[in-house]
This record gives sequence, structure tokens and C-alpha cells, in this order.
Amino acid sequence: MAKFRLPKDSKVSKGALYAVANVTAAVRRFKVYRWNPDDESNPCLDIFEIDMEECGPMVLDALIEIKALHDSSLTFRRSCREGICGSCAMNINGVNRLACTTSVIDLADEIAIYPLPHMAVIKDLVVDLTNLYKQYASIEPWLKNPALPKSGEQLQSIEERSHLDGLYECILCACCSTACPSYWWNADSYLGPAVLLQAYRWMLDSRDTATTERLDQLRDEFKLYRCRTIMNCAVACPKGLNPAQAISGIKRLVENAAD
Ligand code: SF4
Ligand code: SF4
Ligand code: FES
Repeated sequence: MAKFRLPKDSKVSKGALYAVANVTAAVRRFKVYRWNPDDESNPCLDIFEIDMEECGPMVLDALIEIKALHDSSLTFRRSCREGICGSCAMNINGVNRLACTTSVIDLADEIAIYPLPHMAVIKDLVVDLTNLYKQYASIEPWLKNPALPKSGEQLQSIEERSHLDGLYECILCACCSTACPSYWWNADSYLGPAVLLQAYRWMLDSRDTATTERLDQLRDEFKLYRCRTIMNCAVACPKGLNPAQAISGIKRLVENAAD
């Protein structure tokens, strides 16, 4: 029988325990993925204890406390702390979430924190989003309409604006794309749910006149049609958006344009 082994450097080992002196009922344990490109070691899982009475209520607060109290080299992205910038996306207890909007109290006992799945890790919880941003740039995410004045507000009616609901709220956190099995295997050619939802947002903008050009750009075996409607994206989105629905909307526009 064939035997399969993971490559040696893919194995995650046990890391260090960073304990607090006083263990009370308020102390929670965080098991955090660590990897440093500057040393030769495999990734490991460090365990950090945090007294939640001394710390804010969210997972991001705990990570900031870990950095301050236990290990200043712990690396993660964050900015707004309000679920707006999308930078603190990570995998928490097996689910892609924003660390700043995930409450520690809602999570099971020992909290496991990993980088977003199926992405190259730069360090600890920071993944390489270069490809995702290159894909985002490829859909030309800006208003295209040569007839519009170059400056000033470009107004919409309330009705026109409402067509962007469920799309404009996207914060490009990548929770959806990194939860999508099709994106895991085809990210070099499939644009993935986050970028496709953004593409749809511009197609539905009443002020934009480039829909035909935008659709032509997606009429490709891979960019759009690797979505298998598995729906992981909608489950993963921390803003409650439905990228799969947006992808279906684009497919409908492609079909209508072909009629
Ligand atoms: S519905 Fe499409 S985009 Fe969403 S997770 Fe499934 S394959 Fe990916
Ligand atoms: S659709 Fe949701 S999960 Fe995907 S990038 Fe936008 S906000 Fe994040
Ligand atoms: S820090 Fe901005 S979304 Fe979490």
C-alpha cells in the first residue's frame, strides 16, 4: 500500500508555554501559530495565558496583551479595531474571523489561532496577500465613465444607491477567499469570492458605463467559472455578505449579454 508523508518542514511542533503567575477563573489560554522566516525551525504552537480581567474582551485585545506581556515578537496585522479595515482576519478556532470583532467569551476553552488557511505565511499570523491584491487591481475597481466630470460628487438616486447594498460593505478581509476550496487550488487563475464580489459592485454601480468591458474581462474558463457554489464564502464573511450570490449575479449578466 502506498504511504504518504507530509514534507518535514510542514509539521507543526509544540511550542513554549507562557504562563501567568496567578491562575484565576479569568485566565484564558491562547494557542497561537508561530513561524519565523529568519530561523530554520518548523512552525510551532505557543501557548499564552492571559488574565481576561486585565485585558479587553476581544481576541485582538488578547493578542495585543500577549505582545505586551509575553512576547513582543508576535506578529499580526491590525489597524481599526472596529471591523472596518479588514486587516486582522485570521483563523480562530477553525473559523476565519476578524480578531477585533470576535469576543473571547464566545469561544471554547483553549483558543486556537492560525493564519488564514492555504496562504503563504510571511511571519506568525501574517499571510502574503500579494496575489489577492494583484487580482483586485485586475478588475479595475474604480468608476469608469468618460462622460462624468473629473471632479465633484457623482450623485445617485436612493434607489440606484440601494443596488450596492450587500456589496459596498466588503472590507476585503479575505476571510471568504481563504475559506473557498476552489480558491485554495486555483488561486493563480480563479479570482475568488472577495475579488468577484468587488467586480460585481462596480457592474451594479449606476454611474459606471464599463459593464460590457468588465464582463469581457471575466469571460474566461478560470477567472469566474471555478466557483462551484460550495457557499463556504457566505458562511465565512464576517460582514454577513454573500459573495456566492454576487458570483451568480455576474454569471447572469454574462448570459444576458450573450443573448
Ligand atoms: S460559492 Fe464559489 S466562491 Fe463561494 S466558497 Fe464556494 S466555490 Fe468559493
Ligand atoms: S466578502 Fe466578506 S469575507 Fe469576503 S472580503 Fe469582503 S468582507 Fe471579507
Ligand atoms: S483591526 Fe480592522 S478589521 Fe480588525
